[in-house]
Amino acid sequence: MHGSSPAPLRSHHANGLKGILRVPGDKSISHRSLMFGAVAVGETRASGLLEGEDVVNTAKAMQALGAKVERTADGIWHIQGVGVSGLMSPKGDLDFGNSGTGVRLALGLMASTPLIARCIGDASLSRRPMGRVTVPLCEIGARFETAEGGRLPLTLHGAKDAVPITYKLPVASAQVKSAVLLAGLNTPGRTTVIEPVATRDHTERMLKAFGADIASETRDDGRHIAITGQRELKAQTIDVPGDPSSAAFAMVAALITEGSDISIENVMLNETRTGLITTLIEMGGDIAIEKRRLAGGEEVGDLRIRSSRLKGIKVPAKRAPSMIDEYPVLAVAASFAEGITHMEGLDELRVKESDRLAAVEAGLAANGVTTGSGPDWLAVEGGGVSGGGLVETHLDHRIAMAFLVMGLASLKAVRVDDGAMIATSFPNFISLMNGMGCRIEPER
Ligand code: S3P
Repeated sequence: MHGSSPAPLRSHHANGLKGILRVPGDKSISHRSLMFGAVAVGETRASGLLEGEDVVNTAKAMQALGAKVERTADGIWHIQGVGVSGLMSPKGDLDFGNSGTGVRLALGLMASTPLIARCIGDASLSRRPMGRVTVPLCEIGARFETAEGGRLPLTLHGAKDAVPITYKLPVASAQVKSAVLLAGLNTPGRTTVIEPVATRDHTERMLKAFGADIASETRDDGRHIAITGQRELKAQTIDVPGDPSSAAFAMVAALITEGSDISIENVMLNETRTGLITTLIEMGGDIAIEKRRLAGGEEVGDLRIRSSRLKGIKVPAKRAPSMIDEYPVLAVAASFAEGITHMEGLDELRVKESDRLAAVEAGLAANGVTTGSGPDWLAVEGGGVSGGGLVETHLDHRIAMAFLVMGLASLKAVRVDDGAMIATSFPNFISLMNGMGCRIEPER
C-alpha cells in the first residue's frame, strides 16, 4: 500500500483465544504460480492464491509482460502463458511495490529474453540490495542500469543470446537461487545453482511439476540444482496451501495468551519452512500436527495450538533459512518465555523489508524487554512484557503483525505506527485474529 497514509493500530490484552481458522495461501507459491504460469503453454489455474498486494503486483507484472491473467468470481486465477521465450517488453514500469520476491524472481524470469523492462518499488524495496541477482544475471548476458548501489529503480536489458552458468550462492537465499534457475528456462544448455545451505525449494518442486528438465543432487559442497533450458513448460492446476509464515502469528498468539486452544487448517509443512514449529515445540509449545497429508506436491497438515509456558532456548544458525521470516514473531514469543532465547545466523534479517534485527530490538526495548545483539545474533530476555510502547514498523508487514501479537499478552497495550503494509501478505489478518478473540483495533 505504498503511497497511502499510515494506519496506526493497537492491540490489547486478550485471553482464551478459540477457533478453527485458515490462513491465506502461501506467498512463495502464489508468486511462483503466476510467474511459471506466465511462461507455460496453456492455461494454469490457481485456487487459494494469496490475494495480498505483493502477489497482485506480480500478477500485474506478468500481464504487462504479455501473459493473460484473470480472476473469476469463484476465486480461481487463470493464467494464459506465452511460452519460455514469449515474454515481451512492458509498455510502462513494472511496479513490485513492497516485494523482494516479486522483483528478484521476475528479473530472473526476464533476464534470458531480449526485452527491456524498468522495475520500481516502494521506499522499502528501493533500499534493498539487487546486486545479489543482477551479478549472476549479468553472467548469463543480461544488462542493468540501476540507481545508486545497484538498487531500484532498475532497467533490465534481457540477453539476446543467453549463456548457461554455474553459480554458487554467496548468500543463503531462495530468491537468488530462483532468479538464476528461472533465467535458465530460456537459456540453451544447462544452468546450475550450487546451494551450500538449503533454502526453500518451491521453485524446484514447482518447475518439476510444470515439466521442466530440472534435477538436484546433494554433493560435498551442497545441493547442485541443474535446469536444461528452452524446453516448454506445461500449464498446471495448483491449489495453494496455507502460508506457514502467516500461521506463525496465530500460533504465537495462542501460545502466549492464557486459556487458548486453536486449530489452523491446511498449513504447508514443507520442511524448508517449518523451523518455527520445531523451535516453538523445543521451547515447550503445545503444538500438535494433525492429518499430515500431501496436497499438490507439498506436505500440509492441521495445527492445534494450546497456551503454553515457554522456556528460552538456543536457536541454531543452521535453522535460519527454514524460518527466516519468522524471527520477529519468535522474538515476541521469547519475550514471554522463561529465561533467555538466543538466535544466531540472522545476517539476512538486515536486508528484509526493513532491517528486521534492528526493528525487532527497538520494538522490544520500547515495550520493556531486555535484549542483546550483534551483527547476526539476537538474545531476548524473557519473563513477560510491560508493553505500552510505540513500535516503528519501517514499512515492514511482519514487524507490524509480530508486535500486534505481543500486545495480546503484555500488561499494557502495544501500538504500531503503521499497519497498512499488513495488506501486502495477510490482508485479513485483523479480522482473522479478532475472530478468535484478539483485540486489535485502529489507534484513535
Ligand atoms: C522467499 C524467500 C525468502 C523469504 C521471502 C520469500 C521466496 O527470501 O524471506 O519472504 O519466496 O523465495 P530470501 O530467499 O532472499 O531469504
